[in-house]
Amino acid sequence: MSEAPNFYELVGGEAGLHRLVDRFYEVMDSEPRAAGIRAMHTNLPRANQKLFEFLSGWMGGPQLFVEKYGHPRLRARHLPFPIGESERDQWIFCMIRAMHDVGIEEPLMVQIGNQLWGVADFMRNQPEAPSAQG
Ligand code: HEM
Repeated sequence: MSEAPNFYELVGGEAGLHRLVDRFYEVMDSEPRAAGIRAMHTNLPRANQKLFEFLSGWMGGPQLFVEKYGHPRLRARHLPFPIGESERDQWIFCMIRAMHDVGIEEPLMVQIGNQLWGVADFMRNQPEAPSAQG
């Protein structure tokens, strides 16, 4: 009996996920397009550790975040930060760039990107200003 490999296995397990999350914050720290969300982060090593622990469980690997901190309450934890469409898109930009940079193949990148887009969109807590065209 064999089950389909989950995202955790497909990105290369613990070592692969560390490479991805490390690259994600390097991109956030260096890309002018991500300057808005970079400025919200006061402690990148801490954010790195927590995103690694969260994604480990989210991708089907060890539930490191839940074991340490209990239910993620991810949306509530993000309420202190104003997150709108722009911030969501900056976050996804960093993640797509990071997946590309660590060599994740495109079909897997699209699958993970789509799922994470839903999570990032759920973090939005700002009403969007109406467009200039009305
Ligand atoms: C949508 C745009 C997002 C923005 C602007 C954002 C921003 C932030 C910021 C500023 C922090 C605090 C970091 C620090 O301690 O300095 C944080 C924490 C965190 N973020 Fe996000 N985030 C976003 C989306 C996401 C998504 C999609 C995930 C998961 C897939 C995620 C997972 C986490 C986790 C696990 C923490 C640690 C929470 C805690 O224990 O306090 N974030 N985020």
